[in-house]
Amino acid sequence: MSEIITARLASYFPRKWDRFYIPAKLKSDPLYGAVYDELRSSELPLLDLGCGLGLLALYLRERGLHFPIHGLDYDQRKIDGARRASREGNYHGLVFDHHDARGGLPDHTGNVSILDILQFFEPTEQETLLKLAAERVAPGGKLVIRSGLRDDSWRFKITVAGDILAKLTAWMKAGPGHYPTAEDFQRILSPFGKVRVEPLWGGTPFNNHLVVLDR
Ligand SMILES: C[S@@+](CC[C@H](N)C(=O)[O-])C[C@H]1O[C@@H](n2cnc3c(N)ncnc32)[C@H](O)[C@@H]1O
Repeated sequence: MSEIITARLASYFPRKWDRFYIPAKLKSDPLYGAVYDELRSSELPLLDLGCGLGLLALYLRERGLHFPIHGLDYDQRKIDGARRASREGNYHGLVFDHHDARGGLPDHTGNVSILDILQFFEPTEQETLLKLAAERVAPGGKLVIRSGLRDDSWRFKITVAGDILAKLTAWMKAGPGHYPTAEDFQRILSPFGKVRVEPLWGGTPFNNHLVVLDR
């Protein structure tokens, strides 16, 4: 994505920190490009759980994907920011709502994304959320997840430190709780379809992995 587009996306957010963070995130993190690659040939609606500022939705629109996107987050400030950016950019088919994913999920049939939020959930909450999300994936659709994985690597230690820092700086409302293992994803999601787990850390020092369930 060109610097002109990332600068324009950042300009939709009034806070100085967001304007600094957004171009840096889009430049250094392969996350949204990887989700684009997974969903580019789909026309199914997308439910984005823990959507934050709605960056995935804005990114997918800028890359020419036009399926409806419903973003949910329990941080009202971020939902307000996502709605404002969607209005400013005159994007269509983007809806952002305040919702705590620990209280269940709305009806949905299509693709689902869960990006960098599972660490805020306890193990049983993670399992419940993953099952609810998988049930909402349409036949032929995908559940696309990014998560730090719990293992023995130095990357895992840096991942935990980064999430603690995000809480200390009030960037996140909660500190990290529990990180799943690759085996957790296989065990919970395999009954719903084919599961893939692959590294997705790009130029970052974090132990991030892409997990994809194909139904
Ligand atoms: C690291 S951010 C990732 C944001 C977005 N998925 C992205 O990748 O751009 C984690 C997000 O999860 C949200 N979150 C954490 N726990 C949540 C919950 N129980 N329900 C809904 N959102 C939650 C946070 O408010 C935050 O916006």
